[in-house]
Amino acid sequence: EKDILNQLPLRGKKVLITAGPTYEALDPVRFIGNHSSGKMGFEIANAAANLGAEVILVTGPTHQKNAHSLVKVVPVVSAEEMYNEVHKHFKNSDIAILSAAVADYRPKSVADKKIKKKDSTFSVELEKTKDILKSLGEIKEHQFLVGFALETNNELEYAKGKLKSKNLDLIVLNSLQDKGAGFGVSTNKVTFITSSNDIIEHPLKSKAEVANDLMNQILKQLHA
Ligand code: CTP
Ligand code: CA
Repeated sequence: EKDILNQLPLRGKKVLITAGPTYEALDPVRFIGNHSSGKMGFEIANAAANLGAEVILVTGPTHQKNAHSLVKVVPVVSAEEMYNEVHKHFKNSDIAILSAAVADYRPKSVADKKIKKKDSTFSVELEKTKDILKSLGEIKEHQFLVGFALETNNELEYAKGKLKSKNLDLIVLNSLQDKGAGFGVSTNKVTFITSSNDIIEHPLKSKAEVANDLMNQILKQLHA
């Protein structure tokens, strides 16, 4: 049995993954969030663990269940908490895959009591959250860094821009143009773009298959 385990390609490697949405509090009972199910990130964690990796999965609020003993789930709520947990584990990681749908903005101030309804309109001032992926691109050393890009238009151009500005080794372009891809469904249509500008298009597949394709692409680039 030990011999078989030793043959796994990511045996002894540490993989850091983010998943799910983040919730940004407005008051004690309300938040701003998004529809990310976390499924893609949990499938990637499972695929990496099946290759022998020790996985840390930092996830926003989801209903996903982790079934793999090599995956350690670290639950967080806000973008700020996700940033802090990710930075605790990054230095010690070999591969980081950031698939979370992190809120880009959060309420500038959080009310300490429930906000009562008053006027006929209500506006909230928002401030930018920290870009977790970009912050890793700025400090990365040996780590292989993977990001996602969710786009509806000018897809390749925007994804290539993110690959470069965030200093990534690989970006997964998630097409929201096709139905059956993206939020809430169990399928995804992705294109991989590498730092050496290889573009690999995949047909519509289950998120579990996309996760395996992604791990294979990472192994390929690591061994090149
Ligand atoms: N990301 C992150 N922290 C943020 C925002 C995004 O780590 N505060 C990561 C996501 O997990 C994803 C990548 O950055 O891997 C791209 O996210 P995306 O929302 O597509 O791009 P943004 O850079 O936020 O730009 P925009 O939403 O304006 O397209
Ligand atoms: Ca964003």
